Amino acid sequence: MTALLNKLQSTPQDVQTATDYLPYAQPRVPNTIWQYLAGGAGKGHTMQANLTAFDDVKLTSRPLADVKGGNSKLELFGQQFNHPLLLAPIAYQRLFHIDGEQASAMAAVAQSGQMVVSSLASQTLEEIIETANQALWFQLYWQGDRTRTLRLLNRAIEAGYSAVVFTVDAPVKQAVMALPDNISAVNLEPPLAININAHQSKVFDGWMAQAPNWADLAWLRDHISVPLIVKGVMHTEDAERMIHIGCDGLVVSNHGGRVLDGVPSSLEVLPSVVERFSGQTKILLDSGIRHGQDAFKALALGADAVMIGRPFIWGLASAGALGVAHVIRLMRDELEMTMALTGAKDLAAIKQLNLGKTIK
Ligand code: FNR
Repeated sequence: MTALLNKLQSTPQDVQTATDYLPYAQPRVPNTIWQYLAGGAGKGHTMQANLTAFDDVKLTSRPLADVKGGNSKLELFGQQFNHPLLLAPIAYQRLFHIDGEQASAMAAVAQSGQMVVSSLASQTLEEIIETANQALWFQLYWQGDRTRTLRLLNRAIEAGYSAVVFTVDAPVKQAVMALPDNISAVNLEPPLAININAHQSKVFDGWMAQAPNWADLAWLRDHISVPLIVKGVMHTEDAERMIHIGCDGLVVSNHGGRVLDGVPSSLEVLPSVVERFSGQTKILLDSGIRHGQDAFKALALGADAVMIGRPFIWGLASAGALGVAHVIRLMRDELEMTMALTGAKDLAAIKQLNLGKTIK
């Protein structure tokens, strides 16, 4: 087995964009963990589509526009951010760096952004938010039943998490790899046992018996007063029902192509959701964002904000908090450069470019 390289103490000169972190990150992470990070479901078609979808959207350069004093600031659920690039929930961040979620939280805050802390965090919700020293968002996975779910939620809200991102597209959490002894989902109670007989279906009578349904979403809405955002929306009928239930935001996402292979890229789905529900709810997007220009395209197609997944973990695995902050900063600069060259002075101006009309 090859020895892992030590973490970097500074950001490398030749890293000009997030993907330049790849050759720094991979040799610093054991191979099985790298596979867990990089992998997708099935044959990887959706994961691939998430990347290429951005290439199909064309921009128009608009020189001479006066964009002095422009910015990419955003207000979301009462919080002010300097840019619309949030850190997506990623499980077990101590797999990638000993400082884990605390490092990512520090970086998000230092860059005046936001982090969504996973239910499967490898550090306690309290210690992460204490490091951040600002309200973060909490990503909820259903905990098998309402009582257990509410216990977890109440803990997060008491700790100071100011919004809940409820992930609905991955109801079955299978252990994809054996975790090292010192890393676990420290905020969770032991999972409920699955009791099925030899004739029952593992899926329908086992896993799905513990999965949330529409009634649970409505129940959840009634039990929390902070903004509720649903992550993993890929159909306008589902979006409509979520808005009707009172959800404050939706994340158009296919979980980075990690759950159901064969669905379209989230960017392809975005315009249909925007067309029907823009203004009625906040619309976020993730899956496949690798460059600030990708973020720009999602915003131009109507997203209010985007979430970055794997790329910030490349920064974390390479150089801890410094690496995460660098990835966010690079993407923000790329986004703002794209804004400047297309004549968009702020996020509202990006939406007015009406790129949706040019997508094929
Ligand atoms: C994830 N994702 C995820 N989502 C979630 O709601 N809770 C979680 O705990 C995790 N954990 C997780 C681990 C790893 C290793 C990856 C790569 C992803 C999905 C994540 O929030 C986001 O939807 C995708 O990562 C976005 O796609 P990109 O940016 O990675 O292409």
